[in-house]
Amino acid sequence: MNDVKTEYSHLIDLNDYPVEWWEQVVNLGKEIYENPEKYAHKLDGKILATLFYEPSTRTQMSFQTAMLRLGGTLIGFDNPSTSSVAKGENLKDTTKVVSSYADVLVIRHPLAGAAKAAALTSDCPIINAGDGGHLHPTQTLTDMLTLKLEKGRLNDLTIGLCGDLKFGRTVHSLVKAMSCFSGNKFVFFSTPELRIPSYVRDILDAGGIEYEEIDALEKGIDKLDVLYMTRIQRERFASEEEYSAQKDIYVLDRHKLMRSKPDLAVLHPLPRVDEITVDVDGDSRACYFKQARYGVFVRMALILTLLENDCCKPKLLSGKEYNNVKCSNDKCITNCEHYLPKSFKGFGDNLECEFCNERTLL
Ligand code: NCD
Repeated sequence: MNDVKTEYSHLIDLNDYPVEWWEQVVNLGKEIYENPEKYAHKLDGKILATLFYEPSTRTQMSFQTAMLRLGGTLIGFDNPSTSSVAKGENLKDTTKVVSSYADVLVIRHPLAGAAKAAALTSDCPIINAGDGGHLHPTQTLTDMLTLKLEKGRLNDLTIGLCGDLKFGRTVHSLVKAMSCFSGNKFVFFSTPELRIPSYVRDILDAGGIEYEEIDALEKGIDKLDVLYMTRIQRERFASEEEYSAQKDIYVLDRHKLMRSKPDLAVLHPLPRVDEITVDVDGDSRACYFKQARYGVFVRMALILTLLENDCCKPKLLSGKEYNNVKCSNDKCITNCEHYLPKSFKGFGDNLECEFCNERTLL
């Protein structure tokens, strides 16, 4: 691709920015939460576009609310079948056109690496609102603001993550981010089939970060400061049988909660299906509805930060192109949008795809 754009600050992966940058965004989110009226006209006349190729309630509406509360306006679609995507338009062309109408573009897509692919040709900053089972950085900013407000800190926490750790993009982004703060430890509760991906475990191993994998919530809930529950994501399984075999294995109820610390914070990116019983909602440890609300303030902070002219501009691709190599991940955007560069980073005998982070044997 010879028209790769480099002049915008996108949020594709939080780890493209230094930790101080995330802290700045989260702290600004806290400041906006405390003084929203000061920010009500900061983006008068600006336009935010939402391109949602996958269903969403909170992420899409919290971005819309964030932009409206900053004084801006909105365009976009939440159902690609009513846009030119239904006529076969590729991601490159849709992005190129919509980014010439808007000041900032938020994208959610079922394929891993789609936000990075969009950023390559966008004429405005792109925000990744979830790319398949890969990453969800703005949910992580939301989770960080929640921890800051509910636990008072982002370090020295024992964080349990439970449920779909394989396909859970919120889990991958959160673990990558929280592993950068000192003293955090992780406890992963999942079946072997939905285990946390090896590329995430490799990051923890390389950083010497403590973690354990446990098969039952009862066996480890007592040591946690934070419990991050997740839904088993029906739409990411190859068949209904595989999904049925995994659902309803991990359920947080009042009985299990009795074993936890009194100041445990229970988070969930939502939507909840059955993995937290409704009788937990009234418990002081249940933070998930507050968490959804905090998402608006941190997204206001993010939009303001990305639209500031002096925000840093991370490089989108820094690996090498291997145009004869096919990424081994069927759900990678490079296997669908064929004009994209097959860009990889060296990783031992394996190449790591720069769009989805999966490994491909040379
Ligand atoms: C999550 C997502 O879309 O990845 N939800 C969200 O953005 N708040 C989790 C999920 O769908 O289960």
